[in-house]
Amino acid sequence: MRKFEDPETLRSWARKARLAGKKIALVPTMGALHEGHLSLIAAAKKKGADEIVVSVFVNPTQFGPKEDYAQYPRDHVADAKKCVQAGATAIFFPTPANMYADDHSTWVIEDGALSGSLCGARRPGHFRGVCTVVAKLFNVVQPDFAVFGQKDFQQATIIRRMVRDLSFGVEIVVAPIVREATGLALSSRNAYLSADEKVRALALSATLKDLKAGVAAKGKLVWKTARARAVSALEKAGLRVDYVEAVDAENLKPVKTLKAGSAVLLAVFDGKTRLIDNCLV
Ligand code: PAF
Repeated sequence: MRKFEDPETLRSWARKARLAGKKIALVPTMGALHEGHLSLIAAAKKKGADEIVVSVFVNPTQFGPKEDYAQYPRDHVADAKKCVQAGATAIFFPTPANMYADDHSTWVIEDGALSGSLCGARRPGHFRGVCTVVAKLFNVVQPDFAVFGQKDFQQATIIRRMVRDLSFGVEIVVAPIVREATGLALSSRNAYLSADEKVRALALSATLKDLKAGVAAKGKLVWKTARARAVSALEKAGLRVDYVEAVDAENLKPVKTLKAGSAVLLAVFDGKTRLIDNCLV
């Protein structure tokens, strides 16, 4: 597996691979790799990529001033080992200095149609940072396709829109959420949870499961009633609700009736840790 730190060296390697007719996949990550990330590499492999580039970069511009940028888990040695085992052919470990010039002043901003609600409303500037870094990664690697996780549902929707609106010509693949046997969605931030908090966190997937079962049984649910039940279950488990929303899965607009084609997205605080989860109905 090739390791790169400098974007220009990666760019010239990727250009050669492209000229040799190779199909290139990009898997953008912030590292602290777990089975969820490895499933993205597996999806790239299954789709026939000849070169699978995993970027590992804790992107400072997508963290708010009071968020966990400094304590976000970082382990390049373990990440590189996991990438080799999963079949990645290149890993990109840029530094903040070689991704952002001191006088960096150009940003990719989604106008709020998709990023003005949900996590975007609670984390000002977050999606500006995500879109900008993903656009930079696309420009460096110029992959045929890139794989993102459904766990970050709003992010995947915004990236798909960015690619369409700015004509990137990169296919976006969204891989399903990977869960522990308990139902807990895998996340690098699960590392922050105490044993008790981990038990409380099970209410996220249980709540989503309950909503899906309701729709399966009745065909649709009145969201106002279903939401009240979901919020009460989460609070009863000891979680502080940030949001629980039902949206149209394509355009993220709120819906009044939960039915096929909707998605439920939720964010809670479990102690100090903010967790997100979602399901497509
Ligand atoms: O989903 C993530 O880990 C990040 O938001 C991403 C897409 C790698 C951009 O920094």
